[in-house]
Amino acid sequence: MKLFDSHCHLNDPKFKKDLEEVIERAKDNSVAHVIVVGYDLKSSRKAIELAHQYEDFIRAAVAIHPHDAKTVTEESLTELKELAKDPFVVAIGETGLDYYKNYSPKEDQIRVFIEHIKIANEIGKPVILHIRDAFEDAFKNLEGHPVKEKGVFHCFSGGPDEAQRAVEIGFYVSFSGTITFNSKKLEEAALKTPDEKILIETDAPYLTPVPKRGRRNEPAYVYFVAKKIAEIKGKPIEEIASTTFRNALDLFKIKKWS
Ligand code: NI
Repeated sequence: MKLFDSHCHLNDPKFKKDLEEVIERAKDNSVAHVIVVGYDLKSSRKAIELAHQYEDFIRAAVAIHPHDAKTVTEESLTELKELAKDPFVVAIGETGLDYYKNYSPKEDQIRVFIEHIKIANEIGKPVILHIRDAFEDAFKNLEGHPVKEKGVFHCFSGGPDEAQRAVEIGFYVSFSGTITFNSKKLEEAALKTPDEKILIETDAPYLTPVPKRGRRNEPAYVYFVAKKIAEIKGKPIEEIASTTFRNALDLFKIKKWS
């Protein structure tokens, strides 16, 4: 069995001390590849550095998180675009809208979200979306500013209706450890999403799945996300693993690993 953790933050300082061991444990637990996702310029640079350092295991995504939208300037977007051109960058993310925390004003979040979509379209890469309590505005802006190479709703937090809408516009839906938290809404969303549109992720170091709650999350635990989806769908985990693996290669256009 081969698993693909489509979203983690091995660029987070929490992995500084034991990154080698974390990667070894992931490989020991069938995780063949991961995407390391940026959330500001520094973490985006770090994601690229890791992708070059571990080129058989890691690819990168670069972006400035909606939380920090109010800090985004012309200069930071110019630098982001330069970073996005690196051949090991496979997506623009995580970008999107977060009206739950609302750390930046909505207007700034929308402005910066659209700027990220423009960059994705200019360089021909998909987007990784962080959408929280903002599905209406997210779909509205994706309709007004379509992403040519599509993308994924990461750490999906919507219900079956939002999952269906995401699939209708050609996007993937990615489930994280939150799918193991006994949420009827998320389980229904997973049931509604065709297997060919599902990705799995850890979002490590956050959102540790059951039964590892209370510890730092890491890519090795993506197994528990796959296992839960297999249970919900009544399918063997091997089947969910191989479908979501192929989906990730397709979305991020990684030929080398297929
Ligand atoms: Ni994340």
